[in-house]
Amino acid sequence: MHQIKSQQFQVKKNNFKTNRIVAVPEDELELLNGEILVLLDLFSFTSNNITYAVSGEIIRYWEFFPPVGPQIDGWGIIPVWGFADVIESRTDDIPVGDRIFGYFPPATHLKLNPGKITLRGFEDLTEHRSTLPKTYNLYRRVLSESTYDRKFDSDRSLFYPLYVTSFCLWDSLQDNNWHGADQTIILSASSKTSIGLAYGIHIDPNAPKSIGITSVRNIEAVKKLGLYNQVLTYDQLDQLGTTIPTIIVDMSGNNSVLVDLHKRLKDFMKFTLKVGLTHWKASNPNQGIIRERSKFFFAPSHIQKRIEDWGGGEFDKKTTRFLLEAITETRKWLEYRNLDGLAELTQLYPKVCDGTIPANQGLIVKMKF
Ligand SMILES: NC(=O)c1ccc[n+]([C@@H]2O[C@H](COP(=O)([O-])OP(=O)(O)OC[C@H]3O[C@@H](n4cnc5c(N)ncnc54)[C@H](OP(=O)(O)O)[C@@H]3O)[C@@H](O)[C@H]2O)c1
Repeated sequence: MHQIKSQQFQVKKNNFKTNRIVAVPEDELELLNGEILVLLDLFSFTSNNITYAVSGEIIRYWEFFPPVGPQIDGWGIIPVWGFADVIESRTDDIPVGDRIFGYFPPATHLKLNPGKITLRGFEDLTEHRSTLPKTYNLYRRVLSESTYDRKFDSDRSLFYPLYVTSFCLWDSLQDNNWHGADQTIILSASSKTSIGLAYGIHIDPNAPKSIGITSVRNIEAVKKLGLYNQVLTYDQLDQLGTTIPTIIVDMSGNNSVLVDLHKRLKDFMKFTLKVGLTHWKASNPNQGIIRERSKFFFAPSHIQKRIEDWGGGEFDKKTTRFLLEAITETRKWLEYRNLDGLAELTQLYPKVCDGTIPANQGLIVKMKF
């Protein structure tokens, strides 16, 4: 018998605002040889996780962590990033007490089948994950890191997935000589992934100026960051210079905003990177955009490419430096809001879906309060 009753936070796949907490039967936690059982400690929750639900079928996010429990048809699990401790082990290579960082279900427990184990980490070789993007299957054994300090766990859970993406966007834009642009328009400018990119542009003397576009309720907070050269709301697009070569980085997925921008900029729209879907209610298959100069940007693919180009060590060095610097800047405005387990997540979850969590808050679900 496990001391902590096993539970999962599940959502209806075709109507993901509907959610429930399900008790996981004890026999689901039984280990086979080679497997480990981990107990989640904490994880972050942002619009990025909602996007996992929105694109759950297309990018196969529903497949990482199949739901268990009664009547699971039509239910799914939204993955999260965080930390967990090994509480049972049936492999000699990973002891009980080891602590790992990576991709988890919002749940109390997870069974993993570690392979390619080194002191630094391992890959989960669970069969159903084998054809999913590899980046998500890699776990770090943080106790082996000489600089590991628990007091930065919330920072890492929240910003690793978002600011590494910002770094990758910045790197990709630099690599393409900013597509010849003199300005970068960033949509959904109050999102953390956007703010990370704005930070990269801010510290880069060769980057074209940045213009953040956000909603009325977030404009003051975005201006206060002091990272964007200019900040406008979605209904102030007429104030943009439309004869300036422009790149658009779109975290919103808001189709009408993107079509409007493409129509205003015409040939001056040099390239659009479609990154996110924070405005998931306003997204559709991007009808009316300039498709030949627009492309979906998938951070895990860019990460894999750079690990091949630079080697894992160099990739880690560059992203860690970026994360540390960007998080130092972020501490000036970010407020952590700790939630008491899955029960409090269910209360705040509708607000994350609707985008009504204040932009300066970072939600961390603590499983052991
Ligand atoms: N392609 C990739 O590989 C990749 C990797 C990482 C992240 N992303 C994407 O980047 C996006 C940003 O993620 P994040 O976690 O950084 O976001 P976040 O910090 O949680 O962003 C919150 C902001 O998003 C907007 N928003 C959220 N929900 C909304 C709703 N229902 N209606 C209208 N606006 C809403 C609002 O910004 P505004 O008022 O400023 O619009 C809100 O302040 C996500 O879509 C995420 O999936 C993509």
